[in-house]
Amino acid sequence: MTAANEIVAEHVEPRPFGRVVTAPGTDLRDLAPATIEEWTVASKVLVLRGIPLLDRADLITYAQSWGEVLTWDFGAVLDLVVEEDPTNYLFSRSDVPFHWDGAFARATPRFFLFQCVRAPEPGGGGETVFSDTTAVLHAAGEDLVRRWANTEVTYRTEKLRHYGGEIVAPLLARHSATGETTIRYNEPLDPARYLNPVWTTVDGLSDEDAAPFLADLSARLHDPDVCYAHEWRDGDIVVVDNQALLHGRNAFRGNSSRHLQRIQIL
Ligand SMILES: [Fe+2]
Repeated sequence: MTAANEIVAEHVEPRPFGRVVTAPGTDLRDLAPATIEEWTVASKVLVLRGIPLLDRADLITYAQSWGEVLTWDFGAVLDLVVEEDPTNYLFSRSDVPFHWDGAFARATPRFFLFQCVRAPEPGGGGETVFSDTTAVLHAAGEDLVRRWANTEVTYRTEKLRHYGGEIVAPLLARHSATGETTIRYNEPLDPARYLNPVWTTVDGLSDEDAAPFLADLSARLHDPDVCYAHEWRDGDIVVVDNQALLHGRNAFRGNSSRHLQRIQIL
């Protein structure tokens, strides 16, 4: 591997957070996982451009050189494509509400990496939206943060694809690298709107009392000041800090579609 400082790369910081590194002619494997990790923790979302995508086997080998790779019943690499007759909203044309990856897994990935095999056509939607929960916490008052710190949420979903079950999770967590407080939250998926709904209950609150509490939380998470919407281009490699951020997807528009590959690092 080459030291990061030997690689010619242009760094641009989109608003309100993230980092786009353009490094034509660089092989992903020339970038040490420690460098990728450092840039991603610092910027929360790292977009690499001009770097050829790896094939499936090489992507797995590279991710394994970084850390333990989370595997599922489909293996290590998930192909995220729009399906004609999906059983789960991830594979539909709808939006995807905010969540963190691995809520229903045996362990939570620290990072995940996407390779964009085929981007939607321009204006075709499907942007991945990231919410910086550390910024949400900074903007919330002390009383609210104290209330969140005492909140546990139960999530329940049927296993129709690779994940499912019931979990209870504290609303706040601590980032393993930075020590910052983060928000762990999966927005509920209304069965009237989404395939494979997720039911969310706040421990100790009736559904009637939970509704305004969760609506306020969602409004804060969707504040444009804390969100970065990534418009995909063919060949993008995107690395995500799954502890600091929540993420979701805008709906696709028209007939546009997309093919991403995702791998998760514990
Ligand atoms: Fe996800």
